Amino acid sequence: MARLVVVSNRVSMPKTGVRPGGLAVALGETLEHSGGVWFGWSGDIADGPVPPPRRITRDGITYITTDLTRQDYEEFYNGFSNSTLWPLFHYRLGLLEVSRRSYEGYLRVNAAFAAALAPTIRPGDIVWVHDYHLIPLGAELRRQGVGNRMGFFLHTPFPVPEILVALPGHRRLAQALCAYDLVGFQTADDVRAFLGYITGEAGGRAGPDGDFVAFGRRARAGAYPIGIDAQAFAGLAADMAEAPDTRRLKASLRGRRLILGVERLDYSKGLPQRFDAVERLIEAHPDLCERFEFMQIAAPSREDVARYRVLRRQVEAAAGRINGRFAEFDWQPVRYINKCCDRAVLAGFYRSACVGLVTPLRDGMNLVAKEYVAAQDPDDPGALVLSRFAGAAQELTAALMVNPYDIGEMAEAVARALAMPRDERVERWRAMWRAVATNTVEYWRDSYLAGLTALSRIPP
Ligand code: UDP
Ligand code: G6P
Repeated sequence: MARLVVVSNRVSMPKTGVRPGGLAVALGETLEHSGGVWFGWSGDIADGPVPPPRRITRDGITYITTDLTRQDYEEFYNGFSNSTLWPLFHYRLGLLEVSRRSYEGYLRVNAAFAAALAPTIRPGDIVWVHDYHLIPLGAELRRQGVGNRMGFFLHTPFPVPEILVALPGHRRLAQALCAYDLVGFQTADDVRAFLGYITGEAGGRAGPDGDFVAFGRRARAGAYPIGIDAQAFAGLAADMAEAPDTRRLKASLRGRRLILGVERLDYSKGLPQRFDAVERLIEAHPDLCERFEFMQIAAPSREDVARYRVLRRQVEAAAGRINGRFAEFDWQPVRYINKCCDRAVLAGFYRSACVGLVTPLRDGMNLVAKEYVAAQDPDDPGALVLSRFAGAAQELTAALMVNPYDIGEMAEAVARALAMPRDERVERWRAMWRAVATNTVEYWRDSYLAGLTALSRIPP
């Protein structure tokens, strides 16, 4: 089998463990099975010039990581990646920041990554580049003479052309995507949006199976919904059911039902709206007072981007407001935790929660929704309340589906989840488990790589 060279900005190193975020979790699980090379940012900022990339090999995976300069970190990571592309791809034009400097930084880091990576690539390697930080990397590698089969996978949503064209230089970005042989997306909607741009804006042509011709290149686009190692996560959750942290959590609830939210503290996740829905739930159903607790785990994320600090203040204010209004001396409705939790600990927490509340305003996939399903006790599962705007909603159709902008609808869905009879919970859970256990991370990797290798080599 060909060697796999995975490239992503975020790399989870064996020592530091997995960082929160679906990409690092999924790629960690992918490479664990196949071995290969994982190239990306070390997570460190160099004070002076960037030293040569560091290389370590563990359990069949060679990690090659490079630092960013302070300027790269500002312009490439905080700037173009997370203040331009992230809001744009999540349909938040109001938060879009456009700056020539950050775009130049984005191109500079992509060129530097390509220069650092190119000597490592051997003939026959399959190169698989991930996510919005590295869209131009493929074209840079081609420029440096890398003729290997090369794929790209976007973990976020891809916006419809009407949104994408708001980005100055959108054509260059789309053209860069066409340097890859296979461009993978999370859902069929994302593929449609991309091909809509190719045919409507770029003057290209697209066939029914995702083949397209644009900017003088022929390539293919396809939907490959990402998954989790469902059996392993289910096993972990069963083991963690009696772990010390899970026991402590349950004891602290004193018989009250747990409603759980877990994410990075990111404005795509709809946290202010979710807190409003919890407040509305208490207003509309005073009988539920003191019978549940809502626990929100919000792992710090991208804290040097101003908009993330604004969100943090908003969420802190909402938690304080709701507890101030409704708490009694021996009960408070909201537990807000602004810390990253270990994924094994999360598995036990998911299993203890009667309701999983996953209500992003827009999300590429959302692995938390799949983890919540996998973690449940099949004989007495909890209920999942899920945003229709998460990619996972395309597969988890048996969840209680909500519009995360509709506070009243979310509040009623939670009330319904809390009151749901066991038979209905089991029936809905079985349908969701089938989807999670079929469309695993292994299936995602194998079907994507099969799609990439099946393509006849496309002349550059
Ligand atoms: N996660 C974690 N600790 C936390 C919060 C999240 O390990 O405190 C993990 C979570 O288990 C999941 C991933 O981070 O595997 C989040 O992926 P998701 O696709 O839901 O969202 P993303 O962060 O990629 O937008
Ligand atoms: C999302 C993105 C990933 C990113 C992750 C965590 O899942 O799609 O590319 O790695 O968030 O964000 P961070 O900025 O910490 O890498």
